Amino acid sequence: MVIRVALSGAAGNIGYALLPLLASGYVFGSNAVELRLLEIPQAVGSLTGTKMELMDCSFPCLTDVIITTDPLVAFNNADVIILVGGMPRRKGMARKDLIQANTKIFSSMGQAIEEVASSNVKVLVVANPANTNCLVALTEATRIPTKNFCALTYLDHQRAKGQIATRLGVSTNSIKNVTIWGNHSETQYPDALSGGYCVAKDGTKVPLSEMLANDIDWATTDFIYDVQNRGKAVIEARGLSSAMSAAQATADCLRTWLVTGTKTGETVSMAVYNDQGYYGVKEGIVFSFPCECRNGEWFVKEGLQLSDFSRNKLNITEAELVEEMAAAHELIGTSPVKIRTVSMSTCSSGSSLATTATESDMSVCLTSRM
Ligand code: LMR
Repeated sequence: MVIRVALSGAAGNIGYALLPLLASGYVFGSNAVELRLLEIPQAVGSLTGTKMELMDCSFPCLTDVIITTDPLVAFNNADVIILVGGMPRRKGMARKDLIQANTKIFSSMGQAIEEVASSNVKVLVVANPANTNCLVALTEATRIPTKNFCALTYLDHQRAKGQIATRLGVSTNSIKNVTIWGNHSETQYPDALSGGYCVAKDGTKVPLSEMLANDIDWATTDFIYDVQNRGKAVIEARGLSSAMSAAQATADCLRTWLVTGTKTGETVSMAVYNDQGYYGVKEGIVFSFPCECRNGEWFVKEGLQLSDFSRNKLNITEAELVEEMAAAHELIGTSPVKIRTVSMSTCSSGSSLATTATESDMSVCLTSRM
């Protein structure tokens, strides 16, 4: 069985860093992968060179690379769709203008998904404003369960882990269960204290609230600010948006969601459609929560105790997302109360599309609902 993976904005910097991770087996193990690269006509030339390079890498699992400017071709029976292509924010552009331009793009992406994608397609939105782009796409693709969509906050999650590890002088891998709440924007709430812990050398799990007890000012001010503004800082330093780290986070998010799942008791941050009012957050927006992944599905981890400080931070990012939702709905002419009130489970029954066991024992859970 071949996994059909479509990538929009494939000729960009993120695409260039992401393609080897998709083609090499890093994400999908030894399952065969067919890549569909979607771009605007002006970028097809450079994409042709990227295709040559992919072929020259001789990735054993890569069966085909298709370049197209037509989403209906790229998404036809696609199992996984990664939406990186969008209108980037330009100097002087208000957030409202960004929403307007991208709502049009993501409305047409959603319509194409609705028309031709596999009924169990999994969609990861990377292009900004990622949460609301994801909401727009899933609003249009009513045939596809809302649980099959998410927007990328794994990048922010990794940034938060990196900041804490550096501060504590420990390995980034020992930092677990930090959470990015809300929007992939400067209102996001990177939260070390509600559920985060550090795995000590002897395996003991020490809550970050204990480890940072004497550094609480940092954990509630600079840490939050630095993670919220890390994307901007990278742009200022590099003159370009993050690409390597965004691609790595995209690959890791897909791998965790669809292939490995999360380890017992561990969570990652994913921006998902909130149809349950998790943590009292308004329903109908795509909001980043702590999630566990099993069998190709995400589950919001409930029950974390939130302080008044945290609750206030959640309210701020929720308010921004509600505003973005209202703007997007106005543009696509849907009523927020009418859309996608029911979430359908993805992996409840049926047969797996691709379950080839691999050396690393990875199987891709793209279970059909049919
Ligand atoms: C990032 O977080 O690095 C990007 O979303 C920033 C951007 O605006 O491209």
